[in-house]
Amino acid sequence: MAHRFIVGEDPHGALPVLERLHRRGILASVDLLGEATVSAAEADVYAARCAAALDELAAAHARWPGAPEANLSVKISALTPLLRTAAPERGERDAAERLRPLLRRARDRGAHLHVDMESLDSREAVLELVLALLAEPELAHGPSAGIVLQAYLTDSSETLDRVLVWAREVEREPPLVVRLVKGAYWDHEVVEARQHGWAPPVFEVKAECDRNFERLTQRLLDARPAVRVAVASHNLRSVAHAIAYDELAGRPHELELQILRGLGDDLGTALAARGQRVRAYCPVGDLVAGMAYLVRRLLENTANDSFLADQARGVALEELLAAP
Ligand code: FDA
Repeated sequence: MAHRFIVGEDPHGALPVLERLHRRGILASVDLLGEATVSAAEADVYAARCAAALDELAAAHARWPGAPEANLSVKISALTPLLRTAAPERGERDAAERLRPLLRRARDRGAHLHVDMESLDSREAVLELVLALLAEPELAHGPSAGIVLQAYLTDSSETLDRVLVWAREVEREPPLVVRLVKGAYWDHEVVEARQHGWAPPVFEVKAECDRNFERLTQRLLDARPAVRVAVASHNLRSVAHAIAYDELAGRPHELELQILRGLGDDLGTALAARGQRVRAYCPVGDLVAGMAYLVRRLLENTANDSFLADQARGVALEELLAAP
């Protein structure tokens, strides 16, 4: 099962898959598996793996005719053992020591660095850290970089306000990429909130989450060119809505659609054949490092409220494509 989702044990081993995707017109973002680091030494090892991956991927992309920039996704919880909700600044400071050199390296290799979003307890640290580093004068004109917005959070609209204010003030070139997702930690957020007797920070009705995803899609597409937009979903309705809204707007700037390797392969191929810009998120690493990732994919595939599960159950297309 792991081989369906994980494209190689290391970036070098992943190159044949990445090259095949490139030949089929599909871009990739390599995710070095690893998260929730517990020591500084472990965080240093992850940062060194990221640096080596940037070198390897940038060199490979330079060899492939017509290949765009290399693209690496990283997790801040793997770059510092000090992420704590109550003291986000400590984690931010520590992670900055490892993220800044990676951003410089990505800039020097002409690569894109994308920072994934994890559970809510680290959101503040991740956002503050990335937006602060990308506004530093030495990084203001590169590398190409991005963050993630999670539509399942009930306050995600306010988070987007904050990102757009930043994007318009900093006027970074190239503009920040915002990858819109629903969010992969739904069960964790609900259980954590219940344990503490808090109101869950996520929508609890799936249609509300889907409606919010569509609202945020429209706001993001309208905010171009202050940001570049990537819509990441396997839900045909959510993806079709993004394409339709983009077409209504006259496709003024390219919309990128993103899928997970192993879950959205057919969708990605169909979208690329339609002339859409498509990127597959390709995890790389060994099975132990990938365990948390695989568990999230399992939860996603077996959840009661999931587009892919409904599709597999044979729900009619009209129903699948209906407005949420
Ligand atoms: P679908 O429409 O089936 O939505 C499923 C989602 O709905 C669940 O994952 C959950 O968010 C939400 N949901 C489920 N039950 C619900 C309920 N009862 N009430 C309200 N909402 C409910 N995730 C992340 O957190 N950080 C990241 O950085 C990334 N990065 C990333 C990159 C790429 C390229 C992709 C394709 C995906 C991610 N993800 C992610 C994972 C992403 O969050 C996950 O794949 C999606 O939530 C699945 O949503 P779909 O639109 O595909 O399906």
